[in-house]
Amino acid sequence: MKISVSEVDFPKAAKVFYESLFDLVLHLRERFRALGSQQQMFEIALKTVLKNKDNDQALDHYLHLLGEKHKMLGLQQIHMERGRVAFLYSIKEAAPTIGEDDVAELDQIFSKIIEKFGYKPTQSAS
Ligand code: HEM
Repeated sequence: MKISVSEVDFPKAAKVFYESLFDLVLHLRERFRALGSQQQMFEIALKTVLKNKDNDQALDHYLHLLGEKHKMLGLQQIHMERGRVAFLYSIKEAAPTIGEDDVAELDQIFSKIIEKFGYKPTQSAS
């Protein structure tokens, strides 16, 4: 399977991700100090993961550190589960032309990120 990354509008994905995350978990909004730069950081992190998606070694350290940061912020498993829903929604909005296979692969990649953060992998709702 190969994700057609060029079909993803990353700035839109990052924007929609946070909008729908805050719809799902209202109190999370106050945890973010500067949403504009946060969207950029998220976009860069997501691109980094996708570029290295077949290179676990390169991602391990990076995602471990990023996960530590999320843990220090007090984020819990439930936030990651809500994040999954927001993420899948944002991908569908930002890349309407990609196929179901690609969406499923992105879901798996998201779950892997969360696992490497140090949380339980996020579950498919079906
Ligand atoms: C799924 C649920 C998630 C929640 C609820 C969440 C929440 C947060 C919060 C509250 C912050 C701190 C913002 C601040 O300090 O102002 C943060 C930082 C960050 N998050 Fe997440 N996050 C999630 C998933 C992800 C994912 C999947 C990625 C990308 C792989 C990601 C990438 C980042 C980055 C790059 C930062 C900035 C780290 C830094 O300041 O060095 N997050 N996140």
